[in-house]
Amino acid sequence: MKGLIETQQRRIERVFLVAAELKHRANGWETRDSLEELAQLVTTAGGQVVGDGVQRVEAIHPATFIGRGKAEEFAAWCRQNQVDTVVFDDELSPAQSRNLEKVFQCKVLDRTALILDIFAQRARTREGKLQVELAQLQHLLPRLTRFWGHLSRQRGGIGMRGGEGESQLEVDRRKVQDRIARIQRELEEVRRQRAIQRAARQRHQFPLASIVGYTNAGKSTLLNTLTGAGVLAEDKLFATLDPTTRRLRLPTRQEVLLSDTVGFIRKLPHQLVEAFKATLEEVTEADLLLHVVDISHPLAEEQMAAVEGVLKEIGADDKPTIIVFNKVDRLPRQEVAARFYERHPQAVAISALTGQGLQNLLEEIARQLRPCRQCVRVAIPHERADLIARLHAVGQVVERRYYPRTARFRVHLSPQHQQEFAAYLVEDAGSGNGEKTGLPAEP
Ligand code: GTP
Repeated sequence: MKGLIETQQRRIERVFLVAAELKHRANGWETRDSLEELAQLVTTAGGQVVGDGVQRVEAIHPATFIGRGKAEEFAAWCRQNQVDTVVFDDELSPAQSRNLEKVFQCKVLDRTALILDIFAQRARTREGKLQVELAQLQHLLPRLTRFWGHLSRQRGGIGMRGGEGESQLEVDRRKVQDRIARIQRELEEVRRQRAIQRAARQRHQFPLASIVGYTNAGKSTLLNTLTGAGVLAEDKLFATLDPTTRRLRLPTRQEVLLSDTVGFIRKLPHQLVEAFKATLEEVTEADLLLHVVDISHPLAEEQMAAVEGVLKEIGADDKPTIIVFNKVDRLPRQEVAARFYERHPQAVAISALTGQGLQNLLEEIARQLRPCRQCVRVAIPHERADLIARLHAVGQVVERRYYPRTARFRVHLSPQHQQEFAAYLVEDAGSGNGEKTGLPAEP
């Protein structure tokens, strides 16, 4: 938030948005919806949208993205209205960026640079910061022009923040490349550390459920409500960048790790997906995904499709997934919900804010993770009342019998708790069908 506040104290950047409307559109997003989202991104980055312009085109113009005449028309408007920055609602090629800066005579950004800028402001962990800075430098390097080059650290502004990136932009490309190499080395080290941490977690063998969803869907709020994690939840895009993992105890007493991840977005810059692959490992390694959908959003279906697209890109599209329809408290009418349930009958409806439906969600998580827990038999001497209490705390006891020396239980236990009770596990004395044989007699 520091960058944002500083920007506001300096002067809020005046931003003009530009979109090209292709005559043959492939999905349900209207240009207007997309521009609205882009405007929200600008606000999140600390800028103020003062106008926008759309041109309907047959195809994208290779030199200037939109037609040159239209670009000049927009440029004249921008000059009259003291626009500092023009943001295009798509990714511009380096050549397009350079040509457009000549036409507009001010800083020209694309959607990618804007998203990167927000990521730069929001990244909290060392790894997140390094990843963003790397993606930012790689994106900006071929686009460096005098509008970037002469901007000092103090004059930075949207698209120029993040790590040491903005000061590095003043120096020559050689130095930027050196910086890229250094970040890559540092990242390798950070990832090595991360792998060690992950290995430690695997030893614990807690199942991992990862919350994914479109930006602003309510992922952090859900994590907060479920675990009291105190994760930043704001009505701004990408409030969360680094995964935050917390422990959650289910009604079955099974413990799971629940992690919040970066918000997905349509047209998520490809290099960012690449850069965040390590962070998104939380997703690829998860035993279960909770796909949170803001059902009150008019483009909920399209947002779901965008999230599914990113999941596919990172190879996590075949994970067991619970669709979580969030913000049901905002739904004006029941018919709206009915339309969604028809398509996704397995979905669980909740309000992360009011707590409505959370019990159902917890039960569904437990149901989906049940295969991780096995039904085992445990025999504990009566004098170990502490262990008997512990067994009831961590496992789900389905049968118990008392013998002269031991208390015997059939209990659903997670792998890590099976390890804890390893010394007390007893073999199944029956036919091998554990569920039906009941408890073996005390020898
Ligand atoms: P990113 O960090 O951008 O990915 O967002 P997120 O998905 O983590 O969303 P977050 O939890 O920050 O919530 C976004 C906004 O939606 C906040 O203003 C929340 O208070 C609001 N919100 C979340 N859940 C609910 C809900 O169930 N009902 C209502 N009415 N608002 C909600």
